[in-house]
Amino acid sequence: MIKFADLNLQIRDIKKEILNTISKTIDNSAFVGGENVKIFENNFKKDLNAKYCLGVANGTDALEIAIESLNLKKNSEVLVPVNTWISTAEAVIRNNLKVKFVDIDDNTYLISLDDIRKKITKNTSAIIPVHLYGYPCKMDEILKIAKKHKLKVIEDCAQAHFAEYKSKKVGTFGDVSCFSFFPGKNLGAMGDAGAIITNSKKIHTKCKMIANHGGLKKNSHIIIGRNSRLDNLQAGILNIKLKKLNFWTKQRIKNAGIYEKFLNQNKNIVLPVHESKSKHVYHLYVIKVKQRSKLIRFLNKNNIQTSIHYPKILSEVPALKKITGKNSIITAKQNSKKIISLPIGEHLNETQIKIICKLINKFYNHTT
Ligand SMILES: Cc1ncc(COP(=O)(O)O)c(C=O)c1O
Repeated sequence: MIKFADLNLQIRDIKKEILNTISKTIDNSAFVGGENVKIFENNFKKDLNAKYCLGVANGTDALEIAIESLNLKKNSEVLVPVNTWISTAEAVIRNNLKVKFVDIDDNTYLISLDDIRKKITKNTSAIIPVHLYGYPCKMDEILKIAKKHKLKVIEDCAQAHFAEYKSKKVGTFGDVSCFSFFPGKNLGAMGDAGAIITNSKKIHTKCKMIANHGGLKKNSHIIIGRNSRLDNLQAGILNIKLKKLNFWTKQRIKNAGIYEKFLNQNKNIVLPVHESKSKHVYHLYVIKVKQRSKLIRFLNKNNIQTSIHYPKILSEVPALKKITGKNSIITAKQNSKKIISLPIGEHLNETQIKIICKLINKFYNHTT
C-alpha cells in the first residue's frame, strides 16, 4: 500500500527526541504557556524572517483572530478564493464580515488576479490569498492591487510552510499571515496548533490580547477576547519537527521532480506549474486528469491512496450556498471535477513514485 500520508514513518528517527520533550513537559507541568512555546515562536519567526510570531490553538483560530485584529469595516466584503479549505471563509463569516468568492487561475488553481480586480467594490476591505497546495500566490501583484484599493492582506499559509515568492518566504508579504500545524501539514504537530505572523507590533499585540482573554497579563482583560493558545507539548514537538522541515521540503520537491519526469509526456494529464520565481513546497501534488473516477478506482485497486482537494468548491458546500455570485465562478467549478491529489509526502521514496507513474501511464495506454 502506498499511503497518501504516513506520520508514523515521518517521525521514526525523531521519536526518541519527541518522547523526551513530552516527558520533560510532564515533569515540569508547564502545559499552557512555557518555554517550548517561546522557543517555537522565536525560531519560526526567524526562519520566516518575520518580526512577530504568536502561537495559537489551530490554523482556523489564527485566521479568525488575525482578521479580528485588523478592525475591518463592519459588514464589509473580504475576497476569498473559492478553492480552499472551508476555514478561510469561516473565519471571515465568524467575524461578521461578508465573503466574496473569487474564481481561480486555471493553471495554478490559486486566487485569480483578474477576478480579484472584477470583484472589488467600494465595500471591499481585505483579500485573503491562500498559497494553496504549497504554491505561492503572485504576492507582488496582489499587494499592488491591495495598495491601490486600500485593502488589507491576510495570507493563508496553512499549506505553504517555507514556500517562497521571489526568494521571500510566504507569510511575510501581507499585513498578517496565518499558519496551521494540523498533523498532516508540511510542519505538523501531534494535535491541533497554529500561528499568526506579522511585522506589525500593533497587530501582534492585538492578536495576543484576543487569544488570551483580552489581555497581556493574567487577570488583565482590556478587550473581550477568547482562549486560543499553542500548548507547550505541541510547541515542544514542533520545535523538533521544525529542524527537519528543510529536509522534508527537499524530499517533497524531489518527489515532485520524479512525477514530472515520468508523467510529462502523458497528454491526458496536466501537471502542477512551478515558475522559477516561486518555490513550490508541494503540500499537495495536484494534477488535472481525464476520466478521474476511473483513474482513482484503478489506482486504489492497485493499492495507491489518492485524494481530492477539494471535491466541492466553497460556493457549493451547504453552509456557504447562500453567498451570492456563484454564477461568476467558472474555472474553479470545472477544475473541481478534474483534479486529483497524488501522494507526495516525505515518507515516499523514488521507487514508490515511479510505481505510481507507471500505473498512471499504463491506465491511459489501455483506455485511450
Ligand atoms: C488553506 C487552509 N486554511 C486554513 C486551515 C485551517 O487550519 P486548522 O485545521 O489548523 O484549523 C487549513 C487546514 O486544513 C487549510 O488547509
